Amino acid sequence: MSRTMERLIWQFRLFALLCSLCAPFGCTQRVGADANTVTPTPWPLQFHALAFINSSSGTLQATDLWYDWPNGRNFNIIHNQLKNVLHDLEWTNGTSFYYDLDAGTCQTRIFDVGILRPDWLVDNSTYIGQQSYDGFTCNVWEKADFIVYYEDVDTKRPVGWIFYTGMTIHLMSFEEGAVLADSEWQAPAYCFEEEDSVLGKQKVIETENEPWRKFLANFGNLPGFLVDDN
Ligand SMILES: *[C@@H]1O[C@H](CO)[C@@H](O)[C@H](O)[C@H]1NC(C)=O
Ligand SMILES: *[C@@H]1O[C@H](CO)[C@@H](O)[C@H](O)[C@H]1NC(C)=O
Ligand SMILES: *[C@@H]1O[C@H](CO)[C@@H](O)[C@H](O)[C@H]1NC(C)=O
Repeated sequence: MSRTMERLIWQFRLFALLCSLCAPFGCTQRVGADANTVTPTPWPLQFHALAFINSSSGTLQATDLWYDWPNGRNFNIIHNQLKNVLHDLEWTNGTSFYYDLDAGTCQTRIFDVGILRPDWLVDNSTYIGQQSYDGFTCNVWEKADFIVYYEDVDTKRPVGWIFYTGMTIHLMSFEEGAVLADSEWQAPAYCFEEEDSVLGKQKVIETENEPWRKFLANFGNLPGFLVDDN
């Protein structure tokens, strides 16, 4: 018998032994589902997604997400059901504008940390395993007691996520590399009135005693969350 053959047999015996020790405790693990090997796919640097959102209070939104990391900006254009459209325009320098073109209103918010990095989910997330979400078989991660995130096993595309408040996000489309024209990123003039008062406007991250504050303070604003009923 060749040495290689011998080694293979020993490896097989060892494997069989480990399996038999393991079996009573139900610790057999599927190949590819090892917590250490399943890592989330970083977001593409630019994408457009159409999201169907059910807020924690049950109100519905159809939201265009325009994520644009190289240009340091993220846009959520939120169509509330049978109501006005809300624009949530986030710059990575920390300024976010929330405006309603029909009502002519604007609110400025300050996030010191800016927008989410494309790999925001990669570090310190907990792999939960595979689950079905909206009919897609997904790898699932949880992060910071704040979010559960579903990624399609085959295509690696995000399928959706659920915030700890119960707000659910379902991605209806996902266009990698799509970029919204520069002219669309201009907040209306009335957002810039009272020019020197930015620091007096609402500063979002003040305390860290809630999961969402902690998350936003560490990782940045996440599409959809702050226009929930918080
Ligand atoms: C939205 O979520 C609530 C539970 O939070 C659920 O009762 C309701 O059916 C959902 N609406 C839709 C359209 O899925
Ligand atoms: C951040 O960038 C945006 C877009 O260029 C600008 O309107 C805003 O005033 C900037 N905010 C700060 C604090 O510089
Ligand atoms: C991950 O967690 C460790 C320990 O809490 C922390 O030191 C580190 O900064 C975290 N990394 C990221 C990217 O959040």
